[in-house]
Amino acid sequence: MTVSQTIKTPASAITIPYSRFRPTGNAATYVSQALESGRVQGDGPFSKKSEELLTEITKSPRVVLTSSGTDALEMAAILAGISPGDEVIMPSFTFVSSANAIVLRGGVPVFVDIDPRTLNVNPKAIKAAISSRTKAIMPVHYAGVACDMGAIMEIAREHQLKIIEDAAHGMGATWNGQHLGAIGDFGALSFHETKNIVAGEGGALLVNDARAFERCEVVRDKGTNRKQFLRGEVDRYTWVDIGSSFLPGELQAALLASQLENIEEINAARVVIWNRYHAALAPLEARGQIQRPFIPEGVVHNGHIYWIVLKDGESREAVRRALSQKGIQATSHYECLHKAPIAARFARVSHQGLPVTERVVKSILRLPLFGQMTERETEFVIDALQGAVGSAAGG
Ligand SMILES: Cc1ncc(COP(=O)(O)O)c(C=O)c1O
Repeated sequence: MTVSQTIKTPASAITIPYSRFRPTGNAATYVSQALESGRVQGDGPFSKKSEELLTEITKSPRVVLTSSGTDALEMAAILAGISPGDEVIMPSFTFVSSANAIVLRGGVPVFVDIDPRTLNVNPKAIKAAISSRTKAIMPVHYAGVACDMGAIMEIAREHQLKIIEDAAHGMGATWNGQHLGAIGDFGALSFHETKNIVAGEGGALLVNDARAFERCEVVRDKGTNRKQFLRGEVDRYTWVDIGSSFLPGELQAALLASQLENIEEINAARVVIWNRYHAALAPLEARGQIQRPFIPEGVVHNGHIYWIVLKDGESREAVRRALSQKGIQATSHYECLHKAPIAARFARVSHQGLPVTERVVKSILRLPLFGQMTERETEFVIDALQGAVGSAAGG
């Protein structure tokens, strides 16, 4: 699909992508500084700057940059001590990386259903899935809207379970004032190009569990004590633990630092568009034609995704096609992980079934949303959507 930046006069010429990255602030300066310094390997000055900014924003006691959100989840699984046969309860409505991180340790993802209003994991379903092998819970904060962390933390306390938050969507979003990813024992953030804060590919692990404060830098650096060596604490570095290469390079970190410096503006611009959609689509919800996102009390979201849920899969496809004919790229989202061909081999599914997940996967549609989206572009999407939903409903 061709991507044009501005609206041209006839509607048919307009192309509005689902997401579009634009560098902000010091991006070009920082990236060229990193290049010119001749030091582009990881853990340099821009990595340090990004980690400091992340610490300031998230208030997490320990932040380490990673090459992706996937890496951060894989590190969390190692640090949480997930071992063969350990079960980790998570939604099926999530990205493959949530499950893979557990499977790579020999653990077993146990898929449970989501809450129909927030599309976040349902605490009652978590409770029902607990077994003697359960080791951890992985809440996924879908669309940057916090899961019901009060209920989830209570379950974790009662059953002595670890919490690994998948906060890939959550940069800048909070639950009761706490940054997503910094609430449980471990949290993973993503800075992939489609996220609010972008490093190209990138992520960060937030560590709350004090026992892992030192170990996280070893696991991130191939299981070596290289950091201790660099600090002059040992005279050579060696293999001291399991680990892998989870460290991002300085070019990624330079871009990330420029984005983090502008997080408030970046997220605020997205929230403006999110709010426009939300207000304009209220009548469609009132008529029972769509469902809009629900933001629980105490939750501050970051405008990461504006989703709607249509009546069924056919209506979703009809609406998606109608928007596409107008040059608007609206997209579905995750497939059911519990129905993936590999799931039978590596995962378990809650005995309660996952009816909400199965319905939502077929009928969800995500609308274009990016910081530079103009009011005209947003209005154009809204008009097109109103028309398409009306036709899909036979109205
Ligand atoms: C819920 C969730 N977790 C993890 C990831 C993986 O993040 P990354 O692409 O940075 O590896 C994604 C990516 O979109 C995601 O949606």
